[in-house]
Amino acid sequence: MTQLRRVVLATHNQGKVRELAEPLKALGVEVLGLGEFPEVGDIIEDGTTFADNACIKAAAVARITGLTSIADDSGLEVDALNGRPGVYSARYSDDMPLLEGETRDACNIRKLIAEMAGVPDSGRTARFVCTMAAVRPGLYAREQALIVSGAWEGRILAECRGTNGFGYDPVFLDEELGISAAEMTREQKMGRSHRGCAVRALVRAWPAWLAG
Ligand code: IMP
Repeated sequence: MTQLRRVVLATHNQGKVRELAEPLKALGVEVLGLGEFPEVGDIIEDGTTFADNACIKAAAVARITGLTSIADDSGLEVDALNGRPGVYSARYSDDMPLLEGETRDACNIRKLIAEMAGVPDSGRTARFVCTMAAVRPGLYAREQALIVSGAWEGRILAECRGTNGFGYDPVFLDEELGISAAEMTREQKMGRSHRGCAVRALVRAWPAWLAG
């Protein structure tokens, strides 16, 4: 059997590693998570776009590991908030103290529901965006990276629905299915989501990028 090419996905989340490992294996690639590379410490994501942050992370990991690296950055863009929280989605409510027993995800949702109070249905449009970047060691110019994105259009609910998923899933309505992202199974969400879309785009573009 031919040797698989090892690439690193810049995450400690084994779920994300599995999502990418399966489709890339068919292309002769083995995907490893950062758990296998303890020498990679925290990477400061100080970009102002999803693509900036994905490139910063992928390049940092490629430099340290000497392997081709892939990173993603994602978030929620709400039209009524001029695209906020965007790249700051994970830290959106950092200016608010947590209630007793509240998680940061729940606090983010509490802030979003409050900011969207009074916005009519027609103005509640939003999208999740995911950008993935792949970088080869030594080839750090932006044009040498493979950069792909996926978006998932939806609407912000006035209250939580469902308990699956993470982050803003309970207040993100997929209008076509009529259910929130937190009411979907993992497989259903992967079939429709920004991440699923970006992963499929990466897999499609991978062979030509590697050959180029
Ligand atoms: P990350 O780039 O995957 O770490 O995502 C950044 C933040 O965006 C997360 O902490 C969530 O708040 C939000 N986010 C990204 N993707 C999703 C999703 O699929 N569902 C809910 N929230 C998400």
